[in-house]
Amino acid sequence: MAFFLRHVLVCTNEKPGHCGELGGFGLLEAFRTQVKLAGLENQVLVSKTGCTKQHHLGAAVIVHPDGVWYKGVSVADVPELVESHLKKGIVVARLQNKEIGLSKKVV
Ligand code: FES
Repeated sequence: MAFFLRHVLVCTNEKPGHCGELGGFGLLEAFRTQVKLAGLENQVLVSKTGCTKQHHLGAAVIVHPDGVWYKGVSVADVPELVESHLKKGIVVARLQNKEIGLSKKVV
């Protein structure tokens, strides 16, 4: 069995103009590498995902259970996201997509 603290979803949708073309596959590998380097591979699962309709803002990355979407993420941002959010639980505000998230209440 495996129990993770966080699940990072990296969008790699391959349609033209979508996250796959915007660097999604490089992000997927960068997250997997940085999570391992940080010693978090037993706490953080990194997976690819499909479109969440945010690619107009750049490559999308989602962190659950925090319900945080990041926008316009580049490979250069990954070490900071791993160190700040995945290791310390501090959201990287400058990359957060505040137009989408998870509601804390049932509506
Ligand atoms: S293709 Fe990534 S959010 Fe749409």
